[in-house]
Amino acid sequence: MHTFHSSTVYQIYIKSFCDSDGDGIGDLNGISSKLPYVRSLGVDYIWITPFFPSPMNDNGYDISDYCAVNPMFGTMEDCEALIREAREQGIGLMFDMVFNHTSTEHRWFQKALTGDPEYMDYYIFRDPVDGHAPTNWESKFGGNAWEYVPHLGKYYLHLFDVTQADLNWENPKVREELKNVIRFWKGKGVSGFRFDVVNLISKPPVFEDDFEGDGRRMYTDGPRVHEFLQELVADTGIGNMVTVGEMSSTTLANCIRYTRPADRELSMAFSFHHLKVDYAGGDKWALKAPDLVQLGEIFRTWQEGMQEGGGWNAVFWCNHDQPRSVSRFGDDSRYWKESAKMLAMLIHMMRGTPYIYQGDELGITDPGYKSIEEYRDVESLNYYRILLERGLSEKDAFEVISRRSRDNGRTPMQWDGTDTAGFTTGEPWIGIPANHTYINAEAEEKDPDSILNFYRTLTSLRKEFAVIAEGDIRFLTAGTGGVFAYERSLNGQILTVVCNMTAGEVPCAPGLRTGYCLLSNYTEAGGDDSVLRPYEAAAYLRNE
Ligand code: GLC
Repeated sequence: MHTFHSSTVYQIYIKSFCDSDGDGIGDLNGISSKLPYVRSLGVDYIWITPFFPSPMNDNGYDISDYCAVNPMFGTMEDCEALIREAREQGIGLMFDMVFNHTSTEHRWFQKALTGDPEYMDYYIFRDPVDGHAPTNWESKFGGNAWEYVPHLGKYYLHLFDVTQADLNWENPKVREELKNVIRFWKGKGVSGFRFDVVNLISKPPVFEDDFEGDGRRMYTDGPRVHEFLQELVADTGIGNMVTVGEMSSTTLANCIRYTRPADRELSMAFSFHHLKVDYAGGDKWALKAPDLVQLGEIFRTWQEGMQEGGGWNAVFWCNHDQPRSVSRFGDDSRYWKESAKMLAMLIHMMRGTPYIYQGDELGITDPGYKSIEEYRDVESLNYYRILLERGLSEKDAFEVISRRSRDNGRTPMQWDGTDTAGFTTGEPWIGIPANHTYINAEAEEKDPDSILNFYRTLTSLRKEFAVIAEGDIRFLTAGTGGVFAYERSLNGQILTVVCNMTAGEVPCAPGLRTGYCLLSNYTEAGGDDSVLRPYEAAAYLRNE
């Protein structure tokens, strides 16, 4: 039994959580001030997104110094105080290690730019091929993934923004530097780590054009990734800490290896296939309604597959890169409360460690911005331009951005119903959804039936019932007709979870509602057991 099986993790996007000094940007002291709230959610860990020095072109995922604090977010003393205070409240902190790339402002890259061969070998520099970029790979934020440096006569690789240069993990010195970063933060008393896009760190020995895609199949889950992870974990002694890897476009077979204890890599992995079921033709920038049958098949494959292989999933709907789940898979108006609770229950009762992204527990919605000027994210702004270049009208391009922008999940935390939602006393760096007047922590605290209180029940049930933390999983209905049903079982105890992901009444197969109703998102009696009400979610417990 691993303690993280019964744990829940809370993700804080620092820039938007709580501002203690009125500059409109969240900070470390803001987090400290809200520890009692986080503790009241019943979570065990907080993953904090990067707060290290950074030019902030990608909101801190472009790091220029791994072992210091960005003054925008506070000081090292503030950070140490936060670690200490969190521990006093029984909460472990997980820091975000962005090891696939550094900012081009990092000292190492700056030295590389002077032509110093030692530091050029920290990155992936290549000669032009026939006068162009070494390969046709595309950056995940749009455009070619190589940038030419005229005075060096070479290109460097950047799978993300042009100011995020990929590190050369083949170089043992790079690996040693990164281990030192882990040792540094471990020494400060953190409890674990989240590793950013860590399945992209091992690049192929030969760089070739990809004629079937954007290049990702060449470097995703690359040739030495497992070896690199094992070495990092062994040499830093973090095998007993809580670790999670963000796995971009990964496979089940690889995620089993990343997370099964025998391989000594990570505690768990995030995968994203379930968040692509509304991408038309697999393109994030082409809209379609979520394909619920595909969603169900993905859940089934990953839940049952990770179990068979002895791996462990991190389960989640939202993070700082995703739109709000209630707006995307639920109904953020008529069935706002029901659908937010249903979505929560569907994943919190699965086999895996659930992650709550700040504000999910309040049912925060996408902001519904009215103009492109309201967006801040580099990816959204790049793609708005690219969509216009592809020939979309301004209206259509805006519609795509408003549904797909990462800023949907980056709006300030809604603490109360005042103008700035209690997030700041200044001008927030990004706009706050108008509905914060009623969707906010203060209001939901007072309502026993709130989404907030429902989340508290979910985290405590995971602690109370071993069948939720440790039970086997088997899918009974995987999205057909909008219904998701699965069974968890442990030592003769059976938990059946049934969820309706549609706004209509749908038939409920006989036998699903057997046992004692442990939790439901409808409090008033429904009458007809043979139907599921709109967005209904219920869990039943019985002994075999
Ligand atoms: C991850 C982060 C994302 C960031 C990217 C590059 O996907 O979650 O926010 O832009 O990595 O570091």
